[in-house]
Amino acid sequence: MFAATSPATATAKPDHYASLVAQASALLGGGRDRTANAANLAALLFHGLPDLNWAGFYWLKDGELLLGPFQGKPACVRIALGKGVCGTAAADRCTVVVPDVHDFPGHIACDSASRSEVVVPVMKSGAVLGVLDVDSPSRARFDAEDARGLEAVVAAFVEATDL
Ligand code: SME
Repeated sequence: MFAATSPATATAKPDHYASLVAQASALLGGGRDRTANAANLAALLFHGLPDLNWAGFYWLKDGELLLGPFQGKPACVRIALGKGVCGTAAADRCTVVVPDVHDFPGHIACDSASRSEVVVPVMKSGAVLGVLDVDSPSRARFDAEDARGLEAVVAAFVEATDL
């Protein structure tokens, strides 16, 4: 397990995400159901990454994001495309890292404890199907290595799941 402030973070984080990808592939390999795999992946990330207060999915449905499986406190059920960090990542089709949610215009505060956040679009064949959202109570908890690592985790999920 890496510590976000450790001097060894630069080498440890990619290793830790490589381990999470391997664990995700093994965990999700037993079945291809979207709900089951998303629920287990949310639990794996929530307990496998330090300093998180929320980890889970929103799915694109009827033109908006709808809450999916997650770990953490109850969250907003619907998010419009282009709104908040999740809606921005889905609309722009790219990962969004927010070092301080107080500085992100339109941030949607589901849990007031959240201070930093990273959202990765879940995409298949060029289409956005939803997003993975991971929140931390610490400022600047996520960097580019977390973004790349979580993108690899999402790629393993897409590979292992019928979407
Ligand atoms: N903060 C997100 C909303 C989802 S919750 O954090 C779980 C956003 O601004 O889109």
